[in-house]
Amino acid sequence: MNNSGLLASLARDFERFKRELPRDFAAHVRGTYHIDLTARYLGETLPHPVGKGSGQLSLNASQLETDADAGLGFVVLKTVIAQDAAGAQSMAAWAIHETKMQVERRGGGWTVTWKGRGWDRSLDDYLALVRTGRDLTRAGKDGMLVVPSVKYNLPRLGEPFLEGEYAHTTASLADAWGEGQLPVEKDFSPTLAGDPLADERSQILRWVAGVPGRIRAAAPNGGRVQLKLMNAKFDDEFQLQMLAAAHEADGVTVFNRLFDSERRVAYGGWDLSDRNLRVLDAMNARGSGPNGLSATGNICSGRLMLEYARRGCQSGQLHTFFQLPLAEYPATAGSRTARALHALVFDPEDGIISGMLDLEEQGVIHRRDGELRFLDVSSPLPEP
Ligand SMILES: Cc1cc2nc3c(=O)[nH]c(=O)nc-3n(C[C@H](O)[C@H](O)[C@H](O)COP(=O)(O)O)c2cc1C
Repeated sequence: MNNSGLLASLARDFERFKRELPRDFAAHVRGTYHIDLTARYLGETLPHPVGKGSGQLSLNASQLETDADAGLGFVVLKTVIAQDAAGAQSMAAWAIHETKMQVERRGGGWTVTWKGRGWDRSLDDYLALVRTGRDLTRAGKDGMLVVPSVKYNLPRLGEPFLEGEYAHTTASLADAWGEGQLPVEKDFSPTLAGDPLADERSQILRWVAGVPGRIRAAAPNGGRVQLKLMNAKFDDEFQLQMLAAAHEADGVTVFNRLFDSERRVAYGGWDLSDRNLRVLDAMNARGSGPNGLSATGNICSGRLMLEYARRGCQSGQLHTFFQLPLAEYPATAGSRTARALHALVFDPEDGIISGMLDLEEQGVIHRRDGELRFLDVSSPLPEP
């Protein structure tokens, strides 16, 4: 089929999948369009690049089950605040309770306004959620990767890391996870960026460099560590320094939300994706970046996912796009996750399929053995 035949199929699929998205839509995309959506997060192979970022949408088992049913690629659980064996939490200021979220328009995009911070229930409750996630991850060939997220102690310069928090929380997570290396995402949040603790550049760089080894060392079967870097209150050059300092990490998520210091809230939208993409461009211009990049920030279309992919990201984590008013999705039935996936993949203008066909036409990616591959977008190969 030539591209005009594929576009006609895309228009038909977009219409019929409005009522129900097949769970294994990645296989359908491969069979119909000869597009392989295979993606990667923290060394794991995923059927496609769309995942859910840590937050209020990964707090309980029913949210995870809905996501697995919809065919989501992966989920990062809400960030738990680390504790030592006696239950002490140096980052306790992040374990506060707040439920009310507001989805608002900001600068032509969407943002979620929320004053809360991390997980506000017990570590035992979190471990129960990790076990549910582990079971979903291991549920045969259709398993959905579920990864815990932690905020561990971050000391001031000259003070030692509180190793007890790293040891106890990581060992507890590893016990809940069971066999194999423990995957963990370490969150550097926007509220941290706005905190006096993050006023010193060298202090932040010490955290970024020092955290991965500590987590790995505390996991009895070893661990794989994804650092989710913040947008610090400094300039783009400092973002590049953080990326360079993250060379010990197994993967890096780029970059958490911006912090509005007047309203004291985190925000996203186009300001966030503009900054993130600009910094990734600067990183690529210098010719080196960290391992395993995963994108976050205003991914509200397949096109945006591909913009991040062109700059090296092998998957993407969304939050806001899973929270829009129902009328904003073209699909007319299904969970918000399924409706979001439908738009991200099948939208005839802005979806991943149409975007990849355009990249083929522009000569950015090429068919190999008849197929276009999502992972080729982040590291294009010469024409065969
Ligand atoms: C209400 C809300 C709560 C969040 N909580 C966390 C969190 O606990 N840990 C974390 O790493 N990121 C958290 N995030 C950040 C998201 O995972 C995501 O990286 C960010 O919102 C950018 O993606 P988006 O533009 O698609 O929303 C939160 C975001 C929102 C909107």
